[in-house]
Amino acid sequence: AEKKLQEKAQGYRIRNAEEKDLDDVRQINMITLPENYPSYFFRELWIKYGKSFYVAEAPGGKIVGYIMCRVETKPGYFKHFLVKSGHIVSIAVLEKHRRKGLGHALMAYALKSLYEEYRCSESYLEVRVTNKPAINLYEKLGFKTIKILHHYYLDGEDAFLMARPL
Ligand code: ACO
Ligand code: ZN
Repeated sequence: AEKKLQEKAQGYRIRNAEEKDLDDVRQINMITLPENYPSYFFRELWIKYGKSFYVAEAPGGKIVGYIMCRVETKPGYFKHFLVKSGHIVSIAVLEKHRRKGLGHALMAYALKSLYEEYRCSESYLEVRVTNKPAINLYEKLGFKTIKILHHYYLDGEDAFLMARPL
């Protein structure tokens, strides 16, 4: 399965985000998602949790996707005590570059670093209940829906809270 993923994403590279990538990351976020953030938000996640902040680079060097995370201490969804949980804050891939395995690869890198670098025992995220591509991706990676967060988004849409042990 890993070999197949690599073949699909031919020529692309997943690497840790650098400070110079943050404007590109913010731009991709603006184009692809209704949930947007000020520059300092991206910068803060990069400064604090840079080891789990990744970008996907196309053959020419253009940044075409990103994933950024936050490490939080919170009651576990799989353990009955406080755990370190890796919150997938945002992931996106530019439309032209989708269905090549980049979303899956970005998630795999982020989950690995949340476990190995930050010692998280779980990971969780929120996703719009209508966002089938993203939900499929998360289910493929073993995330389970824990609960519905009603009226989670500014436009009134509900979110699924999804989580998995690491
Ligand atoms: N329809 C159905 N399933 C899909 C679709 C789709 N359009 N796209 C991806 N999937 C599922 C499939 O199971 C796919 O595996 P397959 O291609 O072997 O069938 C699997 O996800 C992995 O696909 P990738 O190619 O790795 O994913 P991609 O690079 O296309 O990125 C992403 C997926 C990030 C969700 C992309 O569609 C995107 O950027 N969407 C807009 C932004 C967004 O919605 N981000 C998530 C918000 S929630 C959050 O950030 C926590
Ligand atoms: Zn969130």
